[in-house]
Amino acid sequence: MRDAATFLYKADPVRGATWAEVFAREAPHLRFRIWPDVGDPADVQFLAAWEPPEDLAAFSNLQVLFSTGAGIDQFDLSRLPDHVPLVRMIEPGIVEGMVEYVTLSVLALHRDMPAYRRQQAHGEWRPLQVRAASACRVGVLGLGSLGQAVLARLASFGFDCAGWARSARQIDGVQTFAGWPALDAFLARTDILVCLLPLTDETRGMLDAGLFAKLPRGAGLVHVGRGQHLNAAALLKALDDGQLGDAVLDVADPEPLPAGHPLWRHPRVWITPHVASMTRPDTAARVVLDNLRRLRDGEPMLGLVDRTKGY
Ligand code: NDP
Ligand code: OXD
Repeated sequence: MRDAATFLYKADPVRGATWAEVFAREAPHLRFRIWPDVGDPADVQFLAAWEPPEDLAAFSNLQVLFSTGAGIDQFDLSRLPDHVPLVRMIEPGIVEGMVEYVTLSVLALHRDMPAYRRQQAHGEWRPLQVRAASACRVGVLGLGSLGQAVLARLASFGFDCAGWARSARQIDGVQTFAGWPALDAFLARTDILVCLLPLTDETRGMLDAGLFAKLPRGAGLVHVGRGQHLNAAALLKALDDGQLGDAVLDVADPEPLPAGHPLWRHPRVWITPHVASMTRPDTAARVVLDNLRRLRDGEPMLGLVDRTKGY
């Protein structure tokens, strides 16, 4: 690493102030700048961004592009020179937040909270049958850093847990399914479906009418992936005709979800504004510094994106 290399941060400035403190303390040899204080773009060797700058080509000496989020679909890989690695964010704050959000949502669906909210709206006191967690089959699409952490917590409540990924995996206490040929069997045993997939050409739009039809009637959906995974019209129809019970949506297409969109007012939809988890600035900055150390020492950086797979 060259002396006085510039590290440019381009994301939420409030969290950026915490990054600046961590860098000042732990990497004083780096010049840390917060967007839009770019200085000379040619001096920027490391860039951490939620959304990349328009003029990425101006950063002619860029060595690494870090995503400040776990997802990287906001980056157009064709605009990033082949020699510049893209590294996504794997840090404890994102994992903990996601585990909390998905656990909260699955428990809410399992314990009929949406139904009780509807009953409360017209003053109805009517107990619903409480079912054992072991009788509730939760299925997580995506067995990456987040899907696995979520499943570990859900399994601890006794839910009957399964997960689907591209490649075969073995996870204690979780039934695993691999690849498209196994998707139907996974869906057929899933009462609450959680989407924790990255957005790629393969996964875009996959939460559609065909997929919903393969779930048991009345299944619940917790969608925390990306808005473009979901066909909103198909979701509304599946909710209206009872194929799906309730949906918790943390992501939308576009974001923010436009005023007046029918999802806003649907009685079986809970919406949050892409807050399932948020990068925690202190831990994120340390993870990035550790990756810079790895780069310097010739070790593989954690979270390196495989451009052929797109995640
Ligand atoms: P990872 O890259 O660690 O894991 C991705 C998982 O998806 C892997 O198990 C992978 O399979 C699987 N997968 C990818 N493509 C396919 C496919 N075509 N078919 C089957 N399985 C596939 O990602 P993370 O767990 O860190 O994050 C997942 C996503 O969560 C992010 O990309 C982002 O979209 C979303 N997210 C949302 C947040 C929010 O606040 N709402 C916050 C953070 C992330 P394999 O294991 O075989 O490679
Ligand atoms: C992320 C997100 O990808 O917040 O980290 O969605």
